[in-house]
Amino acid sequence: MNQEFSFPMPTLARSPRGLLIEQVALADVAERFGTPVYVYSRAALTDAYDAYRRALGARRSLVCCSVKANSNLGVLSVFARLGAGFDIVSGGELARVLAAGGRADHVVFSGVGKSRAEMRQALEAGIRCFNVESATELERLNGIAAEVGKTAPVALRVNPDVDPKTHPYISTGLKSNKFGVAFGDALALYRRAAALPHLRVCGIDCHIGSQLLDSAPMVEAARRMLDLVDRLAGEGLHLEHIDFGGGLGIRYRDEAAPTVGAYLAPLLKLFEGRPEELFFEPGRSLTGNAGLLLTRIEYLKPGEEKNFAIVDAAMNDLLRPSLYGGWHAVVELAERDVPKRTVDVVGPICESGDFLARGRDLAVEEGDFLALLSAGAYGMSMSSNYNSRPRAAEVLVDGQEVHLVRARETVESLYALECPLPSSQS
Ligand code: LLP
Repeated sequence: MNQEFSFPMPTLARSPRGLLIEQVALADVAERFGTPVYVYSRAALTDAYDAYRRALGARRSLVCCSVKANSNLGVLSVFARLGAGFDIVSGGELARVLAAGGRADHVVFSGVGKSRAEMRQALEAGIRCFNVESATELERLNGIAAEVGKTAPVALRVNPDVDPKTHPYISTGLKSNKFGVAFGDALALYRRAAALPHLRVCGIDCHIGSQLLDSAPMVEAARRMLDLVDRLAGEGLHLEHIDFGGGLGIRYRDEAAPTVGAYLAPLLKLFEGRPEELFFEPGRSLTGNAGLLLTRIEYLKPGEEKNFAIVDAAMNDLLRPSLYGGWHAVVELAERDVPKRTVDVVGPICESGDFLARGRDLAVEEGDFLALLSAGAYGMSMSSNYNSRPRAAEVLVDGQEVHLVRARETVESLYALECPLPSSQS
């Protein structure tokens, strides 16, 4: 890591006690809870949410934290206490929101594959809105609502066909993507939805992609949505809310990520004086720079072409580098007076794609701790048990306090639902 690098995480600082998050020494967390361990900062989570609230000011709006980015109950409970809404994509995420103290009537439910059981669960909980993504989903939802004797609040997720200019795996608003209903079909589908007796049409939704560093594509999508909203109003169908999805990017390395205020300003200008409530579904910009992954160096292994720092975290803990070429800063917890070496930081998994960082200059020895920064979004929530590795513990720091918000998994729990063939079977 070169000297000029400044931490993208706002509550991280160097001190004589080594790297601190808020007032807690990360080395103490690593010693106490073991590694790998995810560490989140309550102050950073709160500040990120407050940045949205400040930018939205007195505007009627709902900030729905996207649960897929970080679904830990401790983290969700921080947002629930701040009065946030939640964006979910499964019945599992709804259960988590409720277990964390979130309000069902602040929940929006997105996703192309909602099952009947999930629809039932969400209707019974009384969520705020279903973001419907296809014609057949509309019909299914109407049928389920009739069965449970409820009216389902719906928005159509329209696909505005704008290019968010981000990684192809995380761009979602193009015609070629599976998400949303085609822009050209939206009017007819709204008419159909309005005619279905167990649906109440209340909004419109879109989400064009993730890690966006410029608001222009979002504003373009918003213009297209506004055009639809006004045409629907002309037909007597007045929408109550407009949902812009998530997408605002963060700084991992040297990206010029806009502030929430700067990102939202052109959008708010476009909607000035309009009556609709505005919804947002931020994920990464709420949790990404509020969390990091701590790991310990097991071995320093010189190679013929490359040197490796083999650590106890792996692609099963943090998949972004392997899957998207995601770049996370790697920082030594203690500053050591040893020569720097250039290493690939890799895990113990049996895949060449198991790397967390490549070509980093680190002043380290075996046994030292490293922090992988900006890992609070799509880190733990995308982890797996590949290679029968128990998932990491998770810790939430609040000032000087440290809360274990997820215990490290045990090996036994990994196969608790499995069994060998019965012994009668030869
Ligand atoms: N709303 C919907 C409907 C979404 O699909 C997503 C993310 C969000 C909100 C939150 O977007 P955000 O504010 O975090 O950009 N695993 C990838 C990111 C996948 C994003 C999927 N959808 C990564 O690690 O970069």
